[in-house]
Amino acid sequence: MGIMRLGHVNLCVMNIDEAIEHYVNILGLALTHRDQDGTAYLKCWDEWDKYSVILSPSDRAGLDHFAFKVERDDDLDVLAAKIKERGVAVEILPAGKLPMCGRSIRFHIPSGHVVCLFAEKEVVGTAVGNTNPDPWPDGLKGAGVHWLDHLGIVCPFDPEKGINKVAENAEFLQEVLDFKLTERGMVGPQNDIMFVGFLTRTSTPHDIACVPGPAVGLAHIAFFVEDWSAVLKAADVVAKARKTPALTPNRHGLTRGATFYMFDPSGNKNETFAGIGYLAQPDRPLVTWTEDELDRGLFFLGGGDKSFVDSYT
Ligand SMILES: [Fe+2]
Repeated sequence: MGIMRLGHVNLCVMNIDEAIEHYVNILGLALTHRDQDGTAYLKCWDEWDKYSVILSPSDRAGLDHFAFKVERDDDLDVLAAKIKERGVAVEILPAGKLPMCGRSIRFHIPSGHVVCLFAEKEVVGTAVGNTNPDPWPDGLKGAGVHWLDHLGIVCPFDPEKGINKVAENAEFLQEVLDFKLTERGMVGPQNDIMFVGFLTRTSTPHDIACVPGPAVGLAHIAFFVEDWSAVLKAADVVAKARKTPALTPNRHGLTRGATFYMFDPSGNKNETFAGIGYLAQPDRPLVTWTEDELDRGLFFLGGGDKSFVDSYT
C-alpha cells in the first residue's frame, strides 16, 4: 500500500516547558515520553502510536522533520528505490534512530524539507481502548484534539526567478510517493503557475499542504476535532487562557474544513480542523482555485489577513 498517513511532526521549540504546557493544556495532548535532553513526545487521545508530535529544545522555531507511516516494512525498500531512481539521496536509518520506531528512511523533498518514512512505532493504544470503547475519555484537557491530521509546509516560490517548489513538491509527491493531488491554487495571467497544492494518501482532503513562501519553513500543523462546535471550543480555550488567537474561526474553501488557528509559545502555528468535508476518492476530480478566487479558497468567510497568511516558522 505504501504510505498510510502522517506519522509525526518534529517541531523545534525555544522553551520546552512552555511548549509542553501549551500542547498538553491548550490542545489536550498527552506527554508519553521525555529524553534526557528534554525532548518531549506527545500523542492525542484518539491515536494509538506512542507519539505524533516531538518537541525538541532549540534556539529556533519551525520543523526539524516530519514523517509518514507506511503499511509494511518492505514498503520502505520499494519507496527508497523509487526515490533514488529520481536522483534523490536516501539514508537508511536503523531501528531506534527514530525513537521508539523500527528502521526508517530519510530524504529531502524538492522544497528542502526533511521527510522520514517508517513502518513500525511502539503502540500504546488510544485513551478509550479497543474493547467497548467510550466515545471520548474522561479528563480531556483544552481542545481535546483527536489526532494529528495534516501539516502545511512553506516552499520556496519565486516564479520570476524560475523557482516553484510548490509545483516541484506536488509532482514529486504524486510521482514518487503516490500521493493524490486533491486541490490546487493557480496564479498568473494564464492561471498556469501552481501557488498551493493539497495532497493526500488517505481519504481525507489533504495530508499535506504545500504553500508558497520566501524560504523553506513550516506553515502549520493541524489537529482533527469533531465538528464546528469543537472548533469554536478550541477558540474558547485560547481566549479563556488569555492567549491571542491567530484568527477567529473560519471555513476554508479549499477542503471545506472548519478551522481555527493559534500559535504555540515559539510561534509555530497550530490549526484545529474539522475537515472531513468530503472523501478524497481515488477518482475524485482535481479541484482548481483560480487567482481571482484564491482568497475565498483560503478563508471562505473572509478575514484571513495577509500578515497571518505570510507568517511561518
Ligand atoms: Fe491546514
